[in-house]
Amino acid sequence: MADQEIEESTQPHRTVSRRNFIKGVIAAGATVSATSYLFRGALLGQQSSLPGAVERLMTLNVNGQMRRVDVMKQETLAWTLRYKLGLTGTKLGCDRSECGACTVLIDDVPHYSCSILTHTVRGRKVTTIEGLAAPDGTLHPVQQAVVDEQGFQCAFCMPGFVMATVGYLKLNPNPTRAELAHGISGNLCRCGDYNKILTAMTRAAEYLRRT
Ligand code: FES
Ligand code: FES
Repeated sequence: MADQEIEESTQPHRTVSRRNFIKGVIAAGATVSATSYLFRGALLGQQSSLPGAVERLMTLNVNGQMRRVDVMKQETLAWTLRYKLGLTGTKLGCDRSECGACTVLIDDVPHYSCSILTHTVRGRKVTTIEGLAAPDGTLHPVQQAVVDEQGFQCAFCMPGFVMATVGYLKLNPNPTRAELAHGISGNLCRCGDYNKILTAMTRAAEYLRRT
């Protein structure tokens, strides 16, 4: 065991398998930033100190925890989650309601968090990809299906697809492949990996029905 650990720490590229990489991304979400929203971020950051800017301290129910956070009135939920609460599993792709990368559940219903102002979710239950696994680390069945099927290429779109699928399967736990495709059609994959994604999500539905 000790020898194995030494080998792992001295030879990292041999031990980072695609499976482990995807598992890590699913559990916590990789931090991937696009230049466009980095610039937007710089602007938002400056706005808090502009004359007349209003900051509001509020409590958000995120992943079962009550989180106190300063929220500007024009701040989106995606921004608050990623840059104030450190929940970077929620991705920002288009930042304008087109791609679904930012999908989270609000009261168990999927929403684009880039297009919802944070102050409007006061008193509601927000769930992000980080809140899906059980406290002991057991993956949610949808996450487990993604691991088992290796359903994504770069996986940037994956947290959004997982959240959209979790929300959709609450409404229709036994969908056909076509129904599932329609149910999560608000999410786009820039790698075009839709066939594998659908296979993973179909497996997810199976796993959920067994729980
Ligand atoms: S980042 Fe929200 S829909 Fe694309
Ligand atoms: S797997 Fe790359 S964007 Fe979907």
